[in-house]
This record gives sequence, C-alpha cells and structure tokens, in this order.
Amino acid sequence: MVLINLLAFLLLLRLGTLVQAACNGHDELCNRQYSNVSFVGAHDSPFVGPLPQQNQGWSVTEQLDNGIRFLQGQTHHEPFTGSLNFCHTSCFLEDAGPVADYLATVKNWLDANPDEVVTLLIVNGDSVPVADFASEFDHSGIVSYTYVPPISPLFIDAWPTLQEMITAGTRLVVFLDSGADASQVPYILDEFAYFFETPYDQTDPTFSQCKIDRPSNATAAGRMYLVNHTLNINLLDTGILIPDRDDACTTNSLASIEAQANLCSGIYGRNPNVILLDFVDQGEAIPAENMLNSL
Ligand SMILES: *[C@@H]1O[C@H](CO)[C@@H](O)[C@H](O)[C@H]1NC(C)=O
Ligand SMILES: *[C@@H]1O[C@H](CO)[C@@H](O)[C@H](O)[C@H]1NC(C)=O
Ligand SMILES: *[C@@H]1O[C@H](CO)[C@@H](O)[C@H](O)[C@H]1NC(C)=O
Repeated sequence: MVLINLLAFLLLLRLGTLVQAACNGHDELCNRQYSNVSFVGAHDSPFVGPLPQQNQGWSVTEQLDNGIRFLQGQTHHEPFTGSLNFCHTSCFLEDAGPVADYLATVKNWLDANPDEVVTLLIVNGDSVPVADFASEFDHSGIVSYTYVPPISPLFIDAWPTLQEMITAGTRLVVFLDSGADASQVPYILDEFAYFFETPYDQTDPTFSQCKIDRPSNATAAGRMYLVNHTLNINLLDTGILIPDRDDACTTNSLASIEAQANLCSGIYGRNPNVILLDFVDQGEAIPAENMLNSL
C-alpha cells in the first residue's frame, strides 16, 4: 500500500512537471538566460494604423497575442495636458495616448499570461526626468512585474533564465534609451549600458551591414545587441523617411531576417538579441525568432 501510494505520488510529481507551462511558449527557453534569447521586436509598437507615421498593423494586445515579446516605442510630452504620451516625433503627428494607459494594457496581458517574459524599450524623446516615467509605471500598476537586476548594470552572462524570471514573477524587463538612473528608479534600465544598436533609418532593402551605430565608439563585448531591420522609403526624394509598408512582407520574410542575422552573427559570434521590425503582422517574424533560438 505504501509502495502504491509512493508510486502514485511519483507519478503525480512527474505529471506536475509535464503540465508545467513552457516559457514564452517553449520548454527549451526555460533554462536559457535572458541575455541568450533572441526576440523579434515591434518597432514603434504603439503607433498602429494605415497612416505613413504608423508602423504597425496590429494593436499592442494583438502584437502580444501573436507572440511578439519585445515592444519599442517613443514618448513625448503632450503639449496641452503636459502628460507623457507615446507619440511619434511629435504628439501633433501621432498620439497613441498616455504611457500609463499603454502600460496598463501590457499589465492586463501579463496578468492573463503568467508564463511569458516581455521587454519594453522606451525612447525618451523629450529627455524627461526618469521620475516622470516612474509615475506612469506607478499609475498603471505594472511595477511589481518589473525585473530589477541585483547590480547595475548586470553583466551579460549574469542574467537569470526565463524560468527564474517567471518563477519570481519579475517578467517585465524595461529599458530606456536615455535618462535612466538606477539609483532613482531601479527597474528602468539604461539601454546603452546593456545593448548596442545597428544603424536606423535604413533605406537599403538588402540590409547589407551590421555595424555598431550606438553607443558611438562602443565595442560589442559585454553587450547584448539590437538590429534595426526596419525599411524606410525616401518620400518623393524629399529626405523624409517613412516606413515601407508595401514591402513589409519581403522585409519581414524569414530569408531577409536570416540573411542579416547571419551577417551579424558572423561578425559578433552570437545571434542578435533583438530584431526590430515594422508591421510585425506581415511576413514571418515568429518563424524568424524561432530560427534564431534554434527551435
Ligand atoms: C531604430 O530605428 C528607428 C527609426 O527607424 C530609430 O528611431 C530608433 O532609435 C532605432 N533604434 C531603436 C532601438 O529603435
Ligand atoms: C569616438 O571616437 C572618435 C575617434 O577616436 C572621436 O573623435 C570621438 O570623439 C569619439 N566619440 C565619442 C562619443 O566618444
Ligand atoms: C545563445 O547561445 C548559443 C550557444 O552559445 C549561441 O549560438 C547563440 O547565438 C546565443 N544567442 C544569443 C542571442 O546570445
């Protein structure tokens, strides 16, 4: 009897581990360090719609529902109310509403999806103090999900695994491109202490480079890296660059992403951590991410 109970107990234990949900949809990612996972990212994720200044076709929730786990967006002060909003270049051109509302959307999604690690990369377009961002985070109720590294900056090989982040419930990683200050707001991480980026505003559809653009003079050692695989067109040769919507299927094809990623890994000896894309609803963003993660 004791033996049978013991066997039943062991069987339950085994079942318990079997039904345990995967990390970001894949068991193989659970034991991978965050810094060793490749993500496709939605460039200008809040700016959704058919206009030239809009870079995405899916809403933020749809981006997340369809597997996008890295969201980038630019912020500015809304000139009338003074609130901090996701705006593209200026709030006159494109205003996607308060940062706190966007964060609340992400929080609702995290609430409903407990085994997912999500990253936000926020562009501080008006160089506002980091405390202004913190108050948006406070209002949205999302702070308890944020990951705070034990030291700042954390070394590239010291990141926790996705499973560790999920178990701890700290599965939102937040980067700010300028103005971060860990001594004031420890969960808002300084993007360029952790990453380097390739050039943006690309108009070459072959993406035939993988240079370090920012921070200037940075070396790759010790940094994760972000590849801007977003294609622009020069509007009527005016020098005004707008996202190339018509070619999004080709730009976001597995072949195009793989070619640039191979170029990059040939130079840096490891895959990109992030491939930023416009129009993640077009092309093969998730197959490309899976390929980069050897899934
Ligand atoms: C990528 O490109 C966009 C514009 O095309 C630029 O605004 C942005 O700073 C670049 N880098 C990131 C991380 O978005
Ligand atoms: C980068 O290096 C160049 C050449 O050494 C130098 O002129 C420039 O000031 C450096 N830029 C920064 C931001 O350190
Ligand atoms: C993760 O590690 C593997 C094995 O070293 C490597 O091939 C891959 O490029 C790494 N990916 C990233 C994003 O660091």
